[in-house]
Amino acid sequence: MTDDVLVVHGGTPLEGRIRVRGAKNLVSKAMVAALLGDSPSRLFDVPKIRDVEVVRGLLGLHGVKVTDGDEDGELVFDPANVESASTDQINVHAGSSRIPILFCGPLLHRLGHAFIPDLGGCHIGPRPIDFHLQALREFGATVDKTPEGLHLSAPNGLHGTKFALPYPSVGATEQVLLTAVMAEGVTELRNAAVEPEIIDLICVLQKMGAIIKVHTDRVIEIQGVPKLHGYTHRPIPDRIEAASWAAAALATRGHVEVLGAQQADMMTFLNIFRSVGGEYEVTDSRPPRLGDPGQEGGIRFWHPGGELKSVALETDVHPGFMTDWQQPLVVALTQARGLSIVHETVYEQRLGYTEALNSMGANIQVYRDCLGGTPCRFGRRNFKHSAVIAGPSKLHAADLVIPDLRAGFSHLIAALAAEGTSRVYGVDLINRGYEDFEAKLADLGAHVERP
Ligand code: EPU
Repeated sequence: MTDDVLVVHGGTPLEGRIRVRGAKNLVSKAMVAALLGDSPSRLFDVPKIRDVEVVRGLLGLHGVKVTDGDEDGELVFDPANVESASTDQINVHAGSSRIPILFCGPLLHRLGHAFIPDLGGCHIGPRPIDFHLQALREFGATVDKTPEGLHLSAPNGLHGTKFALPYPSVGATEQVLLTAVMAEGVTELRNAAVEPEIIDLICVLQKMGAIIKVHTDRVIEIQGVPKLHGYTHRPIPDRIEAASWAAAALATRGHVEVLGAQQADMMTFLNIFRSVGGEYEVTDSRPPRLGDPGQEGGIRFWHPGGELKSVALETDVHPGFMTDWQQPLVVALTQARGLSIVHETVYEQRLGYTEALNSMGANIQVYRDCLGGTPCRFGRRNFKHSAVIAGPSKLHAADLVIPDLRAGFSHLIAALAAEGTSRVYGVDLINRGYEDFEAKLADLGAHVERP
């Protein structure tokens, strides 16, 4: 633990320019999709993050040859020799990521059976997989839960089905997509998640030969096909990372340009950012032409000076305010005058990190009540899922232990915004989802060091 600490000398505004690459929450799924093809796939702009390493390792174990392509960030997947892996080999990856659950459909199609280790991911509530398993059973899979993990088989093949999710879960929608594309017949999924990362996964699958219709009202229809081929794809940029740096600019009274950030995927965030008093400017990309090198687009975010304003926000499924945007932004809200309100409706336990902010001088109260009108599954179940942030508060340095990925980044922002020297323990967790974050901090003029 002692190696895994970052010393942060706070109080300096972040100033400069960084770049975000392909979205973590698309890239890892597109990698799994490569298993379904009968020819190689190429994925560009893949960030060097831990979740990518885990999926790469699992693909390798199942016989997919993964190599680096010519371009920086390009990966090539050759699924010509897909094979079974032993449970012991797979279990090496137990507890490291949530992505293995998405191997179910592709492995059932390719091998007729699948073993899925115990899952990991961030500790932000119970994170059940009941929707996934229910969906797989609907397709005809049998699921055997054992102490070492899940054993699945499909003795009679996988068949299209009509199915409604109890909640528009991102992962369960992806599970259905990755299974339905090669299941026999038509699948109709109702109450599906329609996050931009899901639409991008649909683009990947369509490039592979799938037939998928996205109807209005969260209905997705998939016509199964017997065979898919490889894809070439440049993923959508990481809108969670982009918003995290935007929040860091605001909290530290700085100015950060995020190359690659895309307005269309961040509209809800941009509205809140402006309501709080932050400013931004969108630069569109321009392709290179004769005599013009072109320009990479992005968004510049800055604190215009003066006081920030309090806001009320509720996290929700797309097109609502993302749950992953909440933690970084709350640090900036500690600097806003008045009472800000956050109603978390996606995860039941995603406000625990506020205790650390309070230890730094913030004034945040968490409540079991629903402080907002968005229908939510947690109010009656007694979860502390609403927060009231009173500001502005002067933040001071503290020793912090990172609990999960997004909360971890919020701890880091708080340490950067606070006066004095903080020690942030467990920072390696941030590498799960933020590529080269220490180099980016250095580019933005942050005073951080490994002791
Ligand atoms: N849920 C169930 N049963 C299930 C599946 C989900 O009850 O079988 C519940 C969850 O407990 C949660 C809600 O449904 O309350 C939403 O979960 P969802 O399935 O949408 O989340 P996920 O697929 O596990 C992805 C991202 C998360 C992001 C959420 C919401 C990945 C790898 N993870 O998780 O990202 O917060 O969607 O947008 O794509 C992160 O990047 O740090 C992260 C946690």
